[in-house]
Amino acid sequence: MPGGDAPQLRYRLATPADIPRIPPLIEASVRGLGPQAYSPSQIEQALGTWLGLDTQLVLDGTYFVAEAPDSALAACGGWSRRKTPFGSDHRPGRDDALLDPRTGAAKIRAFFVHPAWARHGIGSRILDLCEQAARAEGFSRAEMGATLTGLPFYRRHGYVEFERIDLPLANGEVLPIVWMARAL
Ligand SMILES: CC(C)(COP(=O)(O)OP(=O)(O)OC[C@H]1O[C@@H](n2cnc3c(N)ncnc32)[C@H](O)[C@@H]1OP(=O)(O)O)[C@@H](O)C(=O)NCCC(=O)NCCS
Repeated sequence: MPGGDAPQLRYRLATPADIPRIPPLIEASVRGLGPQAYSPSQIEQALGTWLGLDTQLVLDGTYFVAEAPDSALAACGGWSRRKTPFGSDHRPGRDDALLDPRTGAAKIRAFFVHPAWARHGIGSRILDLCEQAARAEGFSRAEMGATLTGLPFYRRHGYVEFERIDLPLANGEVLPIVWMARAL
């Protein structure tokens, strides 16, 4: 599956120049694919807080994009050597402290595929790049707070769910996500 059936895409690390281009991709992904598991109000409330860009990942060199031949972004996703487990720049309770790879699990972060490119193996290819990079830094475990939309994708890649968390939204609703992990 890694490599997928979209060979024309270029996979590369995101750069600061990509930062303004990533939020529109995330919004298109969540609005297009999120309704598989969430209501329209959950989606709109979660965008920009729980679901969005964490600029730190770009600055750390741990965030990837898949770029089409016309330079449009088809997907983004990354990993982190820091403690913040999920969420955008604007989530409450960030913790940018570094993890110890000997004891901590690398965080798989913020995977968003444009709906036009879904189910072409692109998320799988980016996940593979993230797992390789985390392994190269000495991590032997990876974990994430997966959206319900991402659940079957991560299960397919060997992640096992062990806790459901309800993230609070500003209007009093919650966004259910699932804590998942696997050995690298
Ligand atoms: C989750 C997501 C990143 C998957 O990206 P993708 O590029 O479409 O995934 P892939 O094509 O690599 O899928 C690999 C396999 O995962 C499973 N899978 C992926 N999406 C699935 C879905 N919606 N339903 C069931 N299985 C799915 C399938 O087994 C798939 O293989 P197949 O297409 O041969 O059946 C994408 O759906 C997405 O961006 N969702 C919206 C944003 C989101 O919730 N992101 C997760 C944040 S934690």
